[in-house]
Order: sequence, then C-alpha cells, then structure tokens
Amino acid sequence: MNGIVFKSVSKSYNGRPAVRDFSLTISRGERIVVLGHSGCGKTTVLRLLAGFITPDKGIIEIDGQVVAKDGKNLKEPEERQLGMVFQDLALWPHLTAKGNLEFGLKAQGVSASKRKQEIADVLRLMHIEKYANAKPSQLSGGQQQRVALARALILKPKALLMDVRYKKNWSWYVTRLIKNIQKSVRQFYDIRKLRFLLYASRLESQDITRIKQDDAGVIWLGKS
Ligand SMILES: Nc1ncnc2c1ncn2[C@@H]1O[C@H](COP(=O)(O)OP(=O)(O)O)[C@@H](O)[C@H]1O
Ligand SMILES: [Mg+2]
Repeated sequence: MNGIVFKSVSKSYNGRPAVRDFSLTISRGERIVVLGHSGCGKTTVLRLLAGFITPDKGIIEIDGQVVAKDGKNLKEPEERQLGMVFQDLALWPHLTAKGNLEFGLKAQGVSASKRKQEIADVLRLMHIEKYANAKPSQLSGGQQQRVALARALILKPKALLMDVRYKKNWSWYVTRLIKNIQKSVRQFYDIRKLRFLLYASRLESQDITRIKQDDAGVIWLGKS
C-alpha cells in the first residue's frame, strides 16, 4: 500500500510515555495536520517516522515497507526518502544556503552539473536566488525557513515532515503555509506526494474549518 502507516506505536523516554498506542494511516497525496498541546508528542511522532528515534512497540510502514518495528529501526533515516523541516530549522551555520542545499545531493552521489541545476531550480522556486552565497546568520527568519524547506524538497522526498513553530495568527498562517507548500511542491515536482504537516495547540474551531477547506486532514494527539 502506498502511504504512511503507524500501527499501535508507543515511545517512552526514560520510562515516561511520550506517544502511546498511536495509529494513523496517511494515503499518498494526503496532507495531515497534527494538533495538540505542547508536550503531547507531535515532534516525537515526526522523529519516529523520520527514523531518528525507534518505537518501543508497534509498527511504522512507508509505502508498504516496514521501516521500524518493536524497538528496531529496519530502515535508516537516509533510506526512508523523507524530507524534514525541523522546528528550529537546524541549518548548518558554517555552510551557505547553497552549501546547505548541496549537502544531501552530494551524499546521494548526484553529479556536480546536476547539483548545480537542481540548486538553481529550488532557489528560484523559493525566491532566494539572491541569497545563494549567504550563511544562515545573514538571512532573515523567513529566508532561513525557505532554505530549510528547499533543503527538504531538493531530495524529492516521498513525504514532507514539518515541525511548525507556534504562531499567533493561526488561521491565516496555517492556510497560507498549506497553500504555499502545495504550490511550491507542485512546481518543483509532479508526482502527488505525501505531505504531513505538524502543528501545535490552541486552534479555534473556525481555524480548523479553514484548514479542512484547504483539503488537509486534522488529527488530534492527546487531549484536545
Ligand atoms: N529526548 C527526550 N528525552 C526525554 N524526554 C523527551 C525527549 N523528547 C521529548 N520528551 C518528552 O516527551 C513528551 C513529548 O514531547 P514532544 O514530542 O516534543 O511534544 P510536542 O512536540 O507535542 O510538544 C514531552 O513530555 C517531552 O518532555
Ligand atoms: Mg514539538
């Protein structure tokens, strides 16, 4: 089956459960926004899927392949073909925007000429061509965010995982984010990809209605 599946996944840190018996199926092309209060396990869910941590119990599948099961990671993060935008962005401070984008392509053995082309394409897509040679500290927060998104997209991931920072004007921000990402992803590559957006707490019901109008599913983690 094409998609992402969590089957009764649990993860504890030092004996304290962070995610308990979590199940979710995301089909190809589907977008999901995970909501819940601070500390309810949203980041843990993303890190489990990305392969940075291992579930104590349960199964995680990507496109029909078991990638983690009952305390064992069966696929390393780099084998999972997922793109991650971390909440703190985690750009490499010593590398330029271009260097940040090139890193993953190099690791995948992409040729120098192809790397150059792909980097130029994604910089243009994100409207950050001008900043190709700037280091993260020389960029605004928004520009850094675009470099982080570009870095995830350039590897043409099966799914885009975004750990999104809390914003005051929720509904406007969520709607805009989802729309922009949809547009960017479509321009950059054609296939309908999985998308998985992560969100924090305290959305009003009208905000959720608007996210749903944008064709994204909403799930609650923990108590709403
Ligand atoms: N590396 C860690 N070590 C110990 N506890 C952690 C670690 N990461 C997260 N936790 C705990 O697990 C719970 C879920 O955290 P997290 O997934 O970051 O929640 P959220 O992203 O929803 O705010 C919290 O209680 C948090 O303190
Ligand atoms: Mg978090």
